[in-house]
Amino acid sequence: MWVTNFVALCLLATSASGEEKKLSSHASTLADNSANLAFSLYHNMAKEKNLENILISPVVVASSLGLVALGGKSSTASQVKTVLSVDKVKDEHLHSGLSELLTEVSNSTARNVTWKISNRLYGPSSVNFADDFVKNSKKHYNVEHSKINFRDKRSAVNSINEWASKSTDGKLPEITKDVEKTDGAMIVNAMFFKPHWNEKFHHKMVDNRGFLVTRSYTISVPMMHRTGLYKFHEDTENKLFVLEMPLAHKMSSMVFIMPYHVEPLERLEKLLTRKQLNTWMSKMEEKAVAVSLPKVSMEVSHNLQKYLAELGLTEAVDKNKADLSNISGKKDLYLSNVFHASALEWDTEGNPFDASIFGTEKLRNPKLFYADHPFIFLVKDNKTNSILFIGRLIRPKGDKMRDEL
Ligand SMILES: *[C@@H]1O[C@H](CO)[C@@H](O)[C@H](O)[C@H]1NC(C)=O
Ligand SMILES: *[C@@H]1O[C@H](CO)[C@@H](O)[C@H](O)[C@H]1NC(C)=O
Ligand SMILES: *[C@@H]1O[C@H](CO)[C@@H](O)[C@H](O)[C@H]1NC(C)=O
Ligand SMILES: *[C@@H]1O[C@H](CO)[C@@H](O)[C@H](O)[C@H]1NC(C)=O
Repeated sequence: MWVTNFVALCLLATSASGEEKKLSSHASTLADNSANLAFSLYHNMAKEKNLENILISPVVVASSLGLVALGGKSSTASQVKTVLSVDKVKDEHLHSGLSELLTEVSNSTARNVTWKISNRLYGPSSVNFADDFVKNSKKHYNVEHSKINFRDKRSAVNSINEWASKSTDGKLPEITKDVEKTDGAMIVNAMFFKPHWNEKFHHKMVDNRGFLVTRSYTISVPMMHRTGLYKFHEDTENKLFVLEMPLAHKMSSMVFIMPYHVEPLERLEKLLTRKQLNTWMSKMEEKAVAVSLPKVSMEVSHNLQKYLAELGLTEAVDKNKADLSNISGKKDLYLSNVFHASALEWDTEGNPFDASIFGTEKLRNPKLFYADHPFIFLVKDNKTNSILFIGRLIRPKGDKMRDEL
């Protein structure tokens, strides 16, 4: 009797280890909550006048919040948990969960994706980082620590930009031209992300086209084209298209939300909630789609300090109230800047596609997804349900095209 049980147990053990590793429950909760953060942060930023392109990684923002919790005490720390809706989660689970989530989604071997993330915490030259804080923040959030002397502001700004450029192999040459508040702690995220399509574009199917920033302003951009089977939805009521393009190994996918014609994105942004996204996703159907996308790189840098304050992180950013004394052992710091900078390269690269469907019925009369005007996009993670990036492309890099006659 016990022998059969023993064999059964062994079988159970082998099948369990053969399965994909599941996220812990804390990491799953944080994945889910960071997806909510994606929408609230995006909406706060989209309200800003004069802000064009947006590019943020909600999971990386969540991990920077975790760093604030690690350095904070009392209500300065507990506000972080409120922003992430994890008030009841223990500190150690907050840190281990965020760390697990980020390790999972940025694993380039498992995901065949290029996503290089570097984080640095700058303190004024007077600060002494506590050993425990240095150790734990490296362990959970992969953060480097550095002191910076703002008495020579220009060279301080240069050295931040040099670090960001170096840590992204030159993809992010400048994350800021100036730093206004120079008396506090500063978090800098510098990232380079390159989607690797599950089905690549042919590198020769690229030509120059016009991208309409507005009805009267066109920029010349290289555009890549391919026809394939994709999940697609046409929301005729709201006059927009939703397209999902899987990235390598289908572990995540790029989702595009684009109005039929060029128009300011406010109208779509008002619709954009997590619930609405799920509704759209549930209506997607696999269809032949002729996709055209700008083949450009986006380099976008945001100072998130004020947006995080609007989400409820009011104490850490307030010089008179902040208690970040776990960073230095003294109540001498506040969070003066959160630079969140990413380079995203839209390119043709990806896995080989199945060419046998070309010329067959399956690809006849494709729907058109011609991205020659501003759109919203997200990188949704299929395994953790988190959102790796959310953003909008309004003004790609390129030269203004001459007005047509
Ligand atoms: C922060 O400081 C408090 C009080 O000194 C301590 O109990 C706590 O463990 C510290 N937190 C971290 C993450 O080091
Ligand atoms: C990344 O994924 C590979 C393959 O699935 C795995 O062997 C490796 O342990 C992972 N790395 C980390 C840091 O989790
Ligand atoms: C993705 O896979 C391709 C083909 O196997 C390989 O050439 C490429 O280096 C991989 N990229 C990353 C970032 O892992
Ligand atoms: C998500 O993963 C499942 C299981 O691997 C796969 O069948 C599905 O196509 C994936 N979805 C996307 C959008 O990549």
